[in-house]
Amino acid sequence: MSRADKVWIIDFGSQYTQLIARRVRELSVYSEIVLPTIKPADVRKNNVSAIILSGGPSSVYEDKAPNIDTGIFEMDLPVLGICYGLQLMSRHFGARVHTDNRREYGRSAITFQKDSILFKGISGSTTVWMSHGDHVDSLPEGFDIAAVSENNAPAALIHREKALMGLQFHPEVAHTVEGTKILKNFLFGVGKLNRDWTSERFIDQTISKVREQVGGGKVLMALSGGVDSSVMGVLLYRALGKQCIPVFINNGLLRKNEQFEVVRFLKKEMGLPIRMYNYSSLFLNALKGVTNPERKRKIIGHQFIRAFEEIARKYTDLKYLAQGTLYPDVIESRSVNGPSQVIKSHHNVGGLPKRMKLDLIEPFNRLFKDEVRKIGKEFGIPPVILNRHPFPGPGLAVRIIGEITPYRLALLRKADTVFIDELKSSGEYDRVWQSFAVLIPVKTVGVMGDQRTYENVIALRSVNSSDGMTADWSPLPYQVLSRIASRIVNEVRGINRVVYDITSKPPGTIEWE
Ligand code: XMP
Repeated sequence: MSRADKVWIIDFGSQYTQLIARRVRELSVYSEIVLPTIKPADVRKNNVSAIILSGGPSSVYEDKAPNIDTGIFEMDLPVLGICYGLQLMSRHFGARVHTDNRREYGRSAITFQKDSILFKGISGSTTVWMSHGDHVDSLPEGFDIAAVSENNAPAALIHREKALMGLQFHPEVAHTVEGTKILKNFLFGVGKLNRDWTSERFIDQTISKVREQVGGGKVLMALSGGVDSSVMGVLLYRALGKQCIPVFINNGLLRKNEQFEVVRFLKKEMGLPIRMYNYSSLFLNALKGVTNPERKRKIIGHQFIRAFEEIARKYTDLKYLAQGTLYPDVIESRSVNGPSQVIKSHHNVGGLPKRMKLDLIEPFNRLFKDEVRKIGKEFGIPPVILNRHPFPGPGLAVRIIGEITPYRLALLRKADTVFIDELKSSGEYDRVWQSFAVLIPVKTVGVMGDQRTYENVIALRSVNSSDGMTADWSPLPYQVLSRIASRIVNEVRGINRVVYDITSKPPGTIEWE
């Protein structure tokens, strides 16, 4: 099979970097996000076909502003700079970039001044999304101005001979009306790339890669009951058959029943010989008295590995552990060397002990969730499984604020079950990305019948998102919320108040811990 084209997106810390990667992939071209420290030799070694420089919060003249090896501009590869990326490229080619009070933020109209492949099919003027304080205010050498903003500042610069170009606005954001067309023009008009990033290709490539990596050995496959590990399970089972040892570990932090439905499906319909292990008392003992969220994640990661290693010892020639880690988990847990800050060490990335005896196989660690769902569809996994809301690896541990006890777990399980049941029966479940209940370590006064109560508070969280990296709280209908609240207070003894979380991400995260 010929090699697929690959775009590298150099991340200067923009909140939109992920979105650029997704947009490129939506156009069927594989893309990866890389750090500004990459060198031209890395670009060559990895057979990169085109480069996009992301935006970022810095100013190119700040002391600690991220920079790149400018040899990248001499490689004869198409480069598209966006916002900060444009400013960095312009400075390299001798332009002045400066901060002034003409900050442009939000929708703005740009007017084209010159025909170019980058803007093929768009003419006159169009609406774009701006978000910058710095401007390029003299022409970089060899470049022409292709479009100007309402303030008459350069909105697009294009090199006369090389495939170097830059945009002061964000083509990846939906508010930029012709954004997709511009990205398409860059990839296919300028870069002449192929649309060869498809689920079929990914499946074929992964199957051969995994077979080669594993040889005749065995792989312990960690299933959580969630979408990612379920699809991974089906894929690896197809690649390795009996060399796969699919296991499901009950860590005591699961929701009521739900995981088991998925396991039943994978066993019955997909033929996976899943073995179930109950490690709940070990996990819960290790978590006793722990309230710090990062500590909880680390302990859970550790316990998982201990459990996997213990199971692995029962087999000869078992050297690998496969898990369904996704690209956003990797990015959000990435080291502080990158411009994007670590938000949470997702347990299955940052929580793993350094000296683990098993080697990791993570076939989806460059995929977004919607891509995993597409692959699942190829395998004939039904929507009720594929459209399940994400559930975090540390499970209910990060939804119980404060200490995890059997009593508090039981309260949360009951409340969560009512919430999800009601969302399903009202049809809201499939309209939102993720919903769950959170137990808050606070007691409030209430009245039930003629009795004073002094009980716990449950928060409901429901968000709309496309990849979990950013999210808006879901505007669930009042009647649905009201029914859920009254059912929880009536049916779950120990809860006397329900609140609804109306924080988006950012500034909140989706989970409370
Ligand atoms: P946050 O809370 O970081 O969550 O906005 C983004 C998405 O990731 C899930 N999540 C996790 N998944 N291990 C996981 O496997 C974790 O430690 C973890 N923390 C958060 C979360 O449910 C949401 O879908």
